[in-house]
Amino acid sequence: EKGGYEHFMLKEIHEQPTAIKDTYRGRMLADEGLIRMAGVDDNLERIANAKRILIVACGTSWHAGLVAEYIFEELARIPVEVEYASEFRYRNPIISEKDVIIAISQSGETADTMAAIKLAKEKGAFAFGVCNVVGSSISRETHAGAYTHAGPEIGVASTKAFTTQITVLTLMALKLAKQNGTISHTEFMTYLQEMERIPAKIEKALKGDEHIKMIADIYKDARNCLYLGRGFNFPVALEGALKLKEISYIHAEGYPAAEMKHGPIALIDEEMPVVVIATKRGHYEKVVSNIQEIKSRKGKIIAIVTEGDEEVRDLADHVIEVPETLEPLTPLLTTIPLQLLSYHIAVLLGKNVDQPRNLAKSVTVE
Ligand code: F6R
Repeated sequence: EKGGYEHFMLKEIHEQPTAIKDTYRGRMLADEGLIRMAGVDDNLERIANAKRILIVACGTSWHAGLVAEYIFEELARIPVEVEYASEFRYRNPIISEKDVIIAISQSGETADTMAAIKLAKEKGAFAFGVCNVVGSSISRETHAGAYTHAGPEIGVASTKAFTTQITVLTLMALKLAKQNGTISHTEFMTYLQEMERIPAKIEKALKGDEHIKMIADIYKDARNCLYLGRGFNFPVALEGALKLKEISYIHAEGYPAAEMKHGPIALIDEEMPVVVIATKRGHYEKVVSNIQEIKSRKGKIIAIVTEGDEEVRDLADHVIEVPETLEPLTPLLTTIPLQLLSYHIAVLLGKNVDQPRNLAKSVTVE
């Protein structure tokens, strides 16, 4: 049942190239330059003309929502707000009929996310679900939706659900961008072609496994760990930290790299591993200067870099390479080494990675 892997989590990490293909199969026709998503097509005007897109979710799905915020705003130029479902539902939120609310949920059963959707519907918003479990409560409660088709996720720590959620939301953003004319036809085609290369690039990122395990062995006894990223990769930093907390019980925090100097920098010393996502383009130069700030305070730097990077290699204690891709698609690649790093640390510490203490796969109580 674990397909030869020691844990479900490891199996599911390795399934990501296939899971992502399953997510876009039949929806993305790169040769024809077409994206077909029934839930979006049938409501295209409504969604493309949204005054605002509200995303509600919890945990890892909330992180996927944050990545989607950057992608929707960059490509489709529609204002997006991302909310913790549990906060949104209890603060008398301002919702209008012109809003589209997207609920992201692997299980489709999360109580707070479900309640947020019900509330937004009552106020006249159009509700769209991004769920993995077919026929789940949230998928039934929404007006339309798109399944992630990641296959069953058994490990409590979410992995392939996260990357397939980002995939679905990217397709949706591209479709809306095309509809609203906010990206050129050439750009649209470039994205589709690059999406098709993502599974192979994830395969390549997965090959870093042994090297990552070696790094895990060096840092497994850390008490704290900081994760930094900017732009599209800021939410990936949050997700990396959550993965480490959940399964290894090491305290970790994710931060936007530039916010470090407003507080967390005080924590940095030779005992503090800092995982920095420093892929090319985007805010590369700025992240490099953040790395210099950490180094001058003797923090240990584990950097996720673009293949062939030299500059960060000279500064960091360890570098983990991922293939190059279009900047908005980098989260699909930078997430992979962070999943593997947490996995290996937890295994080396003898923790139960598939069933971490105190956690349930689906949180049906608020
Ligand atoms: C993290 C994790 C949780 C879930 C959260 C939402 O690895 O599994 O944070 O992401 O409970 O669950 P869903 O997506 O089922 O609504």
